[in-house]
Amino acid sequence: MNRHTVKDLIKLKSNGNKITAVTCYDFFSARAVQDAEIPLALVGDSASMVVYGYDTTVPITIEEIILLVRAVLRGNKSSLIVADMPFMSYQGSVNKAVDNAGRLIKDGGAHAVKLEGGSVIKNQIAAILDAGIPVVGHLGLLPQSINKLGGYSLQATSESSQKKIIDEAILLEGLGVCAIVLECIPASIANDITASLKVPTIGIGAGGGCDGHIQVLHDLLGLGGGQYPKHSHQYEQLGVRMVDALSRYKNEVESGSFKV
Ligand code: KIV
Repeated sequence: MNRHTVKDLIKLKSNGNKITAVTCYDFFSARAVQDAEIPLALVGDSASMVVYGYDTTVPITIEEIILLVRAVLRGNKSSLIVADMPFMSYQGSVNKAVDNAGRLIKDGGAHAVKLEGGSVIKNQIAAILDAGIPVVGHLGLLPQSINKLGGYSLQATSESSQKKIIDEAILLEGLGVCAIVLECIPASIANDITASLKVPTIGIGAGGGCDGHIQVLHDLLGLGGGQYPKHSHQYEQLGVRMVDALSRYKNEVESGSFKV
């Protein structure tokens, strides 16, 4: 089975093909993502919330992400596996950023890393790329900055912030990132960025015009306990079906009708 590479992302864009991406955190879902022939799987720091049960993406550690990346690699032989660099694993220093990106690649087995931010972390991104590690950028809503932002709201709403995000996207492309996630920005700005770049944009809450789309697996499958971001789509209600299956099992055990 051939694995998608970072080169394929640019090829998909230049051929006018849309890129499907989804988050993924364990062996079984990784295999489902492979079987659905989805080219990009992100071991996102959203695992902090949907796997580990924290309130935000802030607490997850690099060790917690590495364990998930390994499981995803065992279950999926065809998608490009991108790992999120957790909060404070790269912001503090260039050396720390390179070391931690290296851990995700070497210890985890990821094929690329994703970092949140633009010019503020340009030295980190450049150094990680210099070390031979592909980087996916992430602009717009930066959930790791939730304590500064105070909420998960639409970004780039003023004229100056719109100009800034376009400049940041051009900067990231110039540094050599292989794709840029655009989260929660107006569709018109996402469209402008998409048209200005050769590298693909992967949108989440950024309208329909990006080169690709990413969704959180638990939102997509309806595993979110009824609470979903506005920009997510539920293609299934697996959370409800799980409780139903477990309740039927319990009823059979308790009534004495369960047999193997
Ligand atoms: O961690 C994550 O799930 C993400 C996506 C929202 C892009 O970064």
